[in-house]
Amino acid sequence: MATKQTVRDILLKKGGKEKISMLTAYDAPMAALLDQAGIDILLVGDSLGMVVLGLGSTVPVTMEQMLHHATAVSRGVTSALVVGDMPFGSYLVDPRESVRNGVRFLKEAGCDAVKLEGGQDACEDVRALVRAGVPVMGHLGLTPQTAGQLGGFKVQGKSFDAGRKLLADARALEEAGAFALVLECVPGRLGEVVTKGIDIPTIGIGAGPHCDGQVLVTNDMLGLFEKFTPGFVKKYLNLAPQLKEAVAAFQDEINSGVFPAPEHTFGTDEDFNVLLKG
Ligand code: KIV
Repeated sequence: MATKQTVRDILLKKGGKEKISMLTAYDAPMAALLDQAGIDILLVGDSLGMVVLGLGSTVPVTMEQMLHHATAVSRGVTSALVVGDMPFGSYLVDPRESVRNGVRFLKEAGCDAVKLEGGQDACEDVRALVRAGVPVMGHLGLTPQTAGQLGGFKVQGKSFDAGRKLLADARALEEAGAFALVLECVPGRLGEVVTKGIDIPTIGIGAGPHCDGQVLVTNDMLGLFEKFTPGFVKKYLNLAPQLKEAVAAFQDEINSGVFPAPEHTFGTDEDFNVLLKG
């Protein structure tokens, strides 16, 4: 059985040949499959609001919803590092509140670390969490919880000034104690510059090939989420059409009597016909 990944194992992969692999998970059976396949990190992303709960954005997702799903994911995992995403409003309000919420991910949901969005504005929270013993992964670039302020779901850091600010944010998060950094939807060259400019691993999603690792939303890469597909997603499977075909076959077969067949039916030697006769 593979040994449990630690924050230190992830840090040691910085700049190495072997990249860090991260996928999202929201329930125990899927977490177990991804874990058995050898994924390094499972992120219980607040993307669950959109790909599991049917919400229009990640903003309404609550602490209780995150803890409910994170607990299930932790139950399915033996090896991967489990990171719980701090939902909108659970941090950046008061560092003591952030610590209380961050600690819940570890104590109640069995996570190994938390992730939060934001740069220099989030550093006070990152410092407080790390001081309290909660490892923190940062998230810069396109930050979905505040996408409205960023002009929507668009590539970030396209100008020189925006790139410089993003690098300064990355350095500030490292200095505050973050152990890794998600870079979402930034030009590939900026992904490379930030990766070379800090000593903690970067994990890219739409940030080019030079990051220390890559993350995708599992429901996107399996082709299960049909509402929209961001341009940076590669579908490794296209399960939604297959799933619909399977359901149509089930309906056909129950109508035609092909299913259930004798092998799906419990046999008996007793003659129940007598019951029909009253
Ligand atoms: O919530 C999420 O799934 C994420 C990933 C896109 C990194 O934050």
